[in-house]
Amino acid sequence: MFGVAEIMEMRLVLGLTGSIAIYKACELLRLFKKENVQIIPVMTPDSKRFISPLLVESLSQNKVYSDMFDESGGGFYHIMLSRGADLILIAPATANTIAKIAAGLADNLLTSIVLASDCPVLIAPAMNVKMLENLITQRNIKRLSEMERISFVMPESGELACGDTGQGRLADIDDIFDASMFYLCKEKFLRGKRVLVTAGPTREFMDPVRFLSNPSSGKMGYELARVAYWLGADVRLVSGPTNIKPPYGVRVENIISADDMKKAMLDSREEYDLLLMSAAISDWMFEKRSDQKIKRGCEKLQVDLRENPDILSLASKSGRFKYIVGFAAESENVVENAISKIGKKGIDAIVVNDISRSDIGFGNDYNEGKIIFSDGSIQNIDKMRKRDMAFRILSELAKRLGWKKI
Ligand code: CTP
Repeated sequence: MFGVAEIMEMRLVLGLTGSIAIYKACELLRLFKKENVQIIPVMTPDSKRFISPLLVESLSQNKVYSDMFDESGGGFYHIMLSRGADLILIAPATANTIAKIAAGLADNLLTSIVLASDCPVLIAPAMNVKMLENLITQRNIKRLSEMERISFVMPESGELACGDTGQGRLADIDDIFDASMFYLCKEKFLRGKRVLVTAGPTREFMDPVRFLSNPSSGKMGYELARVAYWLGADVRLVSGPTNIKPPYGVRVENIISADDMKKAMLDSREEYDLLLMSAAISDWMFEKRSDQKIKRGCEKLQVDLRENPDILSLASKSGRFKYIVGFAAESENVVENAISKIGKKGIDAIVVNDISRSDIGFGNDYNEGKIIFSDGSIQNIDKMRKRDMAFRILSELAKRLGWKKI
């Protein structure tokens, strides 16, 4: 198993308050556990009326803290628990808890920990729309947002548990998770770096309803973009059609065809420290695209295909990318083909995987492969989750490029 936790310890104080959205925090706990984050759950007295501490204890695999004092004489929990935390996440956060923090109150364990700590605090509010819109709450949020160590993942709009409709619904769990991972990944070896990631397939349309494409799911590219954000990079993701939700903190631009991809990457004057070209670009496009739907009725339909430009070669010639990594899915002579692509495309490295296997690669959550560098050196990557592979690729590249952990 190789993941972020292998390189850096991540310690999270997860504050749970008395909001009905607390049931969503159970899913959040599961996401943190998957990344081997150490979770210290802290429940306010009211939160325990919504869910049992036993559930939180089981999901976090840790004792739930609620009382201010260790009755066995161990000391003051608010001091002990605030030490060594990388992040205090409060999700869901009620208007009441936000108000107490804004006023500097320390009347329960959670608010005391916030006051006694100096690590980042991330607050995900959830409440009735009227409570959120109330000037008192708005002022409290504004006041806290002005502090460098405090940030918010604001609620979404929609139908609320109380029956009202409006803003107040706890932000998407995946967004809260990604925003937290940004703080938990404290060794930021991509800080200050601009990274362009491409992902997914392209579609080349023959007529308004038919296209040529490939089975790329885009998962590898999305994980690269997500993890690069966690590690501090300024990330732009240019994506072909996928079913994946855009990762939090990443600028996403959706494109359809190889030509769109080329324009999105090369028409802008932006410069990047790193290009990760994981998109599966269609090698051909239709010579002619019909504006109308082509009708049945001819026994044989002949179409002409024209080769798409090699975008990586163009990117390499543009001089706008300091380091370029291609991705190749090969079905035979895996290493030889990958090495020849490095030379042909003028790139610095290529990540290659074997598509003759069904348990890795296309559409799968797992991948396995090799990073081959232009100097001929090869790094093997064992079978692992695409997220872990993304982390592995980025840490290998950072090492090679001398990008230090900050
Ligand atoms: N690529 C590209 N432009 C294309 C085709 C591919 O930039 N028109 C990029 C892919 O995004 C990938 C790398 O080139 O990063 C290797 O893709 P692959 O399909 O393996 O390379 P091809 O040059 O298309 O070679 P093959 O004949 O094996 O398909």
